[in-house]
Amino acid sequence: MKKKKLITVAIDSPAAAGAGTQAKLISKEYNLIYLDTGKIYRFVGELKLKNIKRFSYSMLKKKMENIKIKDLNNASLLSDHVATEASIIAKDKNVRNIVKKFQLKIAYNPPPKYNGSVLDGRDITSVLMKDAMFKFFITASIKIRSKRRYLEFKKLNKKISYSDVLKSLRNRDYLDKNRKISPLKKTKDSILINTSKLSKKACFKKIKAIMDNKLKLNGNI
Ligand code: C5P
Repeated sequence: MKKKKLITVAIDSPAAAGAGTQAKLISKEYNLIYLDTGKIYRFVGELKLKNIKRFSYSMLKKKMENIKIKDLNNASLLSDHVATEASIIAKDKNVRNIVKKFQLKIAYNPPPKYNGSVLDGRDITSVLMKDAMFKFFITASIKIRSKRRYLEFKKLNKKISYSDVLKSLRNRDYLDKNRKISPLKKTKDSILINTSKLSKKACFKKIKAIMDNKLKLNGNI
């Protein structure tokens, strides 16, 4: 029997636009492995913060050789401080090259129990998975994103004001869109999903309709 084509889903988005939520729903619906690539940059950011003087590329390389997706679930990676450090370190070409191998392995060689992969980040549609079967650019207004992130922090009992969240997201948007290497941008072939006025459910319904349509044509479902 002919092996079914791997389902590959690439998502880019600015911070707190709802991409992670949608990626998780997609991974469940189609049995895909999910990698939140932002968590990798947060992991690197935290590594640097913890080893201000000792941090080196070879130290990072060693860490990346043994890393597992579950290592990225640490709650400490969720802080705003770590996120800001992540967006600073993400400008570094060497860092991006070191973490690329792990991301490509998950994207194109997922464990056989999965039908494919879904990755979200800033350079997934433009650099990492240019040939993905599905490419989405998920966004929302800066105010809505800040409100959502503020409420998430509140739930986690993190003490940060709405205006500080807004400032931080603005700063990260600027860094992510204006850097020379792998800047955040919507590629021509990505489908734009604006989640500002959509519930999680309504947003997923839209994405699922797009995906089901093509997967039926491809004979995947
Ligand atoms: O997605 P998240 O907000 O957790 O990402 C943290 C930071 O990591 C981003 O602001 C961005 O600078 C960086 N990042 C990146 N490329 C990716 C994913 C995240 O540069 N593919």
